[in-house]
Amino acid sequence: MTKSVFIKNQIKSFKKKSIIVDGDKSISIRFVLLSSLSNGKCVATNLLESDDVLSAINIVRKLGIKVKIKSKLCEINGKGLFGLKFKKNLILDSGNSGTTARLICGMLANSNFWITITGDKSLKKRDMKRVIVPIKKFGTKFKRNKTKLPISFKGPKILKPINYTEKLGSAQCKSALMIAALKSKGETNLKCLPSRDHTELMFKNVLKIPIHIKKREGYDYIKLKGMNEFKNFNYKIPGDISSASFFIVLTLLSKKNNLTIKNLNINPSRMGIIKVLNMMGAKIKVLKRKSYLGELIADINIRSKKNLKAVNLNPRLNSSAIDEFLLIFLVSSVCKGVSTFRNLSELNKKESKRLDWGIKILKMMGIKIKKINNSGIKIWGKPNLKLEKSFIIKDFSKDHRVFMTATIAALTLGGNWKIYDQDCFKTSFPKFGKILNSLGARI
Ligand code: S3P
Repeated sequence: MTKSVFIKNQIKSFKKKSIIVDGDKSISIRFVLLSSLSNGKCVATNLLESDDVLSAINIVRKLGIKVKIKSKLCEINGKGLFGLKFKKNLILDSGNSGTTARLICGMLANSNFWITITGDKSLKKRDMKRVIVPIKKFGTKFKRNKTKLPISFKGPKILKPINYTEKLGSAQCKSALMIAALKSKGETNLKCLPSRDHTELMFKNVLKIPIHIKKREGYDYIKLKGMNEFKNFNYKIPGDISSASFFIVLTLLSKKNNLTIKNLNINPSRMGIIKVLNMMGAKIKVLKRKSYLGELIADINIRSKKNLKAVNLNPRLNSSAIDEFLLIFLVSSVCKGVSTFRNLSELNKKESKRLDWGIKILKMMGIKIKKINNSGIKIWGKPNLKLEKSFIIKDFSKDHRVFMTATIAALTLGGNWKIYDQDCFKTSFPKFGKILNSLGARI
């Protein structure tokens, strides 16, 4: 039986507080995978210890890599680019983590034995074709013509370099190809729609891989050379802006609050949520900005705000806010005017059909909403929205971001909420409940 949470009171004013959220999920998973391919002991501080990152750790352990986790430090003993132990009939379980599943397809594309990647019920529904098609070009063979997990593949020890155009704006796909390219002899050329660039920054500033990146005509052109071994490295993982977003919106939509979130990754390719909320009139401030291994780190300050206004969002901003749209829809529901969002078909390919879930939750809240061209929506905001009804949120494929968004709606807009699958926030943000309670919520 999965536990549910009941919320019937809005959060009381916590006035002025400061919090630190868990470490960045994208960077944590990249640290686990890339440190396994390094030569020597790598140490991360503040690695996110969520279920998704633990899935990545369990996988590298199965491949012969030693991992120690002790009080905020994670030590990984890398065995070099070709040091992973592939065994016959290995089955690797990515749990709920799409990032792990897709990136390890690239990392293991040169397995000399058939290797099987699987995942939980939700991950088994997600598209793997986006990585299978380009990885085949490296010389890897896939069993049967499957596009969903479980999938099995094996490949030559040294891969062929590839040229490929990535048209989904998927950082997971781009990163899988970049990692496979490390094991290929020659130059790989990728033309990618822009997406989060943590892998590029790590290759360039941490691993010192020969890589060139040009931005032209709406695409990122990435050129990199394989077969370059890299040394061990250390990484201080900053806070995750996607996790912070729940507290940004909690503060914005509650009354008379002022919150500072410290040590956050504010990489521009992840800053869409701040840009969109500021366009709505949020006035979020970025403080103490510094750079770290190519990433940008800062504290941010948010105050509760009335009179937010609707936006007509340029789809160019979609990828930098891709995990935050449920929250953006929630804020739109109290904005003055009609907000419009377009080209969001990728949202229905996440842990749950998030575009559909956004529509469903807002409709339950009595908000007028219209789907446009099957991949966009218009939201008619109600600035004085006050919920009084009962709401039950269930059967959302245990999507952590649906759970956390519904919790923030309950704590800021009122009503009586029963939200199922309480444990699912551990996928990405284990401290979510604790931080909420430290601000006076009772969940
Ligand atoms: C991620 C990329 C995004 C994002 C996911 C994490 C990553 O997915 O939604 O939560 O770490 O590369 P796509 O690359 O499929 O857009």
